[in-house]
Order: sequence, then structure tokens, then C-alpha cells
Amino acid sequence: MAHKYFIYKGMQFPRLDYSLEVLSYVENEFQVRDDDVFNITYPKSGTNWMLEILSLIRCGGDPSWVRSVLNWERAPWVENVPGLEVALKYPPPRLLCSHLPVQLFPKSLQRSKAKIIYTLRCPKDVLVSLYHFSKLVHLFRDPGSLDSFLEDFLSGNLPYGSWFDHVTGWMGLKGKENFFSITYEELQQDPWDSVRRICHFLGKELSEEQVAAVVENASFQSMKGNKMSNFSQLRDEYMKHQHGGLLRKGICGDWRNHLSEAQSQRFDTVYRERMQGLGMTFPWD
Ligand code: A3P
Repeated sequence: MAHKYFIYKGMQFPRLDYSLEVLSYVENEFQVRDDDVFNITYPKSGTNWMLEILSLIRCGGDPSWVRSVLNWERAPWVENVPGLEVALKYPPPRLLCSHLPVQLFPKSLQRSKAKIIYTLRCPKDVLVSLYHFSKLVHLFRDPGSLDSFLEDFLSGNLPYGSWFDHVTGWMGLKGKENFFSITYEELQQDPWDSVRRICHFLGKELSEEQVAAVVENASFQSMKGNKMSNFSQLRDEYMKHQHGGLLRKGICGDWRNHLSEAQSQRFDTVYRERMQGLGMTFPWD
């Protein structure tokens, strides 16, 4: 842990591309604008899929932008050093991403009408996706065995902390006019309806043809083949490209291929304890 991560307000962050100064600036000084749209997730919950959908909605389904500009420039992660630099130069209206938990998010959000789109995913699938991704990127430490990674996931001993805290924190905003939540599972099950609902929330109504173009151009296959969206342009200092890519499987329920019965039960026990007070049900419950 020591050499890969540092701690900010009790939470681990990767040393590569992150700093105490930037996290503190983002939390306390970054000015959220009323016309900002934020794509917020716990890592591996469908961040880049949503980023693609939002980019395409902005262009009425026309894929020119997503095929010519890198995803992290179309919607930079505000909390890392290069992302903040892009965000500060971004001509409004901005499209921004963040994995920050709600308590470390820019305080100026409270006074703003910026739109928040929060995407969640079955946490067992998040765990499996993150386990594989951690082996690929230099940002994260090697995950070790699945058993030990499971314990790290359940206790929140990971960058960006606990999935449970992240979800319960952000879902506390449910009901606010500028907050919209959706699951990866809903996106999979009915992408057309999901895109229509996102458009409605953004106040940008698209025709049926445009909705279909958004769905098609943000599909797993389209994104996998688009070098502006598949992370193939990340430099080798970030990613071991020979070991895999961002678009790994893109399915619901892959955890069944990885977790043993005992691991799944252990997960369920903690899940029940941590989620019982939330009073919400999700497609994976
Ligand atoms: P898997 O590892 O399960 O395949 P994030 O963007 O938050 O890092 O999440 C990455 C996960 O979303 C990966 O999951 C990836 O395959 C999946 N994903 C990315 N684009 C997708 C798409 N267009 N359709 C379905 N899944 C997608």
C-alpha cells in the first residue's frame, strides 16, 4: 500500500496522477457551474459507458465527437491532476466525471443546479471487474488473491473507499431535482428507455432515430472498436495493454463465473448488514 497510495481524509488514492493539493482544491475551491453535468460512479460501475452515452446525447447521436476526441478529454475526471487541468480549461457546458465519494466532492455543488448522474452496478460484478482491472493498471496495487481482494472490497480497503459508503452517500441525494440515478443493469436491459430517461433528465429530447444512434454508438462492440473510448491510447506507464483492456466482458452476473459459493455468501452477509437501512431495492437484490 505504502508506495502506490496516499491517504486523504482517511481514504486511499493512487499516487500516480493524484495529489493531496488537487484533492483539497477540488473539495474546497473548485467551482461547480449550474450548467455542469457530472457522471459519477464508484469505479467499474459503467463510468465509461455512461460517458459515451452522455457524449453522444450531446451530439444528437452523431458519433464524430466520440470517434475523434479521447474520452478523458470529452469528460475529464475532476479529482486527478491531468483531469482537473482539462476541466479548468473546458468551455461550458462541461461534461465531467468523478469517482469521489459525496463527502469529498466539491462543496460548491451544494449551491449549484449542476446535474448529477449516478450510475450503480451489482457490487459483485463491480468487485470482479475491479479485480481484473487492478491487474491491468499501474494506478492500483496488484489485487492479490480473490479471497483477500474480497475482504479489501468488503472493508473498503481500496482507492475511493467502500462501495457501500459510496452508494449510501450518493443515494442520499435521491429525490433532489438535479440528481438522477440509474443502474448498469437497467442500461443493459433496456438501453433505449434508459437513454430516453437520461435525455429527459438533461432536458434534451432526441428523436427515436437519434436515441437509436446513441444506443448503437455506445454499444460494447462500438466502444471496444473505438480507440478514443477503449483506453488503448493510454500510455504504457498507465496500463499493461498486453494483459487486457477496459472493455473486458460487459455483461451482468459475471461474478457467478468467479465467486465460490462461500465467497458469495460472505458477500451477502456484509451486503445485508450494510444496506439494510437504505430502504431501496436494486435489480440485483
Ligand atoms: P467488465 O470488467 O465487467 O467487463 P468503468 O467504465 O466504470 O471502469 O467500468 C468498466 C466496466 O464497464 C467493464 O466491465 C466494461 O466492460 C463495462 N463496459 C464499458 N463499456 C460498456 C458498454 N458499452 N456496454 C456494456 N458494458 C460496458
